[in-house]
Amino acid sequence: MKIPLSNAYIEKDDIEEVLNVLKSKRLALGPYMEKFENITKSYVKSKFAVAVSSGTAALHLILKSLNFKEKDTLLVPSFTFISSANVALYEKGKVHFVDIEGDTLNISPNALEEEIVKLKKTNNGKLFFMGVDIFGHPLDWDKIIKICEKHDVTIIEDSCEALGSEYKGKKCGTFGIAGTFAFYPNKQITTGEGGIIVTNDEKIARLAKAMRNQGRTSKKWLSHELLGYNYRLDEMSSALGYSQMKKIDKIIEMRNKVAQNYKKLLNFVETPTTKEYTTKMSWFVYVVKLPKEIDLNKVITFMKENGIETKNYFAPVHLQPLYKDLGWKEGMLPITESVSKRTLAIPFYSELTFEKQEKVAFYLKKAIELFT
Ligand SMILES: Cc1ncc(COP(=O)(O)O)c(C=O)c1O
Repeated sequence: MKIPLSNAYIEKDDIEEVLNVLKSKRLALGPYMEKFENITKSYVKSKFAVAVSSGTAALHLILKSLNFKEKDTLLVPSFTFISSANVALYEKGKVHFVDIEGDTLNISPNALEEEIVKLKKTNNGKLFFMGVDIFGHPLDWDKIIKICEKHDVTIIEDSCEALGSEYKGKKCGTFGIAGTFAFYPNKQITTGEGGIIVTNDEKIARLAKAMRNQGRTSKKWLSHELLGYNYRLDEMSSALGYSQMKKIDKIIEMRNKVAQNYKKLLNFVETPTTKEYTTKMSWFVYVVKLPKEIDLNKVITFMKENGIETKNYFAPVHLQPLYKDLGWKEGMLPITESVSKRTLAIPFYSELTFEKQEKVAFYLKKAIELFT
């Protein structure tokens, strides 16, 4: 594959920081996890940060800390990565999908309120909302918070894709009771595998710290007061995260440049919308909307034949076999379903060169002509 979909941005100092850990032989539960937590919490301006082994683990521990239970319901978009929803199933709770807005691809505040009102009539458990800042674009948080406060719905922010993005000058990750970031190599910064919880809630931070480490609440090693997990982030990953966080602004800037180039090059297709309330955009992926009549699979194959990796971000979660078995079917979320038939993620990473972007644009134009 000549032009991959994503590519981690790793510099010499990142490698050196990881090598330091290996040389020290302190490979787990050492100083780097805390360094990584400290740099992240001061960046997003939250009181606490809890580093864990993945973004999914971060979301799971937030739900656990909030005592999310079987009778409770998680409202969530279907146009997201599947773990935004799955964490509710881990706790045997209910998942309720809500449709999105066709422009930002984020959950529609109106649809959210309608579904909350419906659920309140039948539901005897608590309601939680998983707010996903999709592809790095913030939700319309003022509207969302107003709705959730009015109906007593607890907000968790799945900001896994939005490290550094800002809504009206405030960092994503800080709008709910707790937020998350994920660090798989396609993200803005990477730790290999990894995630982090950010929160101002002391109890969530304390419980999450205990549960990531097998439920230990005291310093005594074999004393387990809670049901916990091994969701710890090792020292090599933490050191990489720490080193990468030091250059987050530079990385966001580089990705912004790539996004601006695409905007100019792709004047023949619908490029992403950025709402004016987004005071800072931290691009995760670059997703274009192809014409309505297009055969997406043919486009993906054609691009691959020409050395360019693309993917249909996202396939609706409610139509995955797991959720179809729970009663979700085609027709339930019309905007999500129609949009996902024509959304395509194209190569996007910090060091993507203009020449490569030109090549992507050239073949994408050809593909649209051929398959529309
Ligand atoms: C919106 C969203 N939520 C959750 C996750 C889960 O993160 P991880 O893959 O680190 O478990 C991701 C990762 O891609 C994501 O994009």
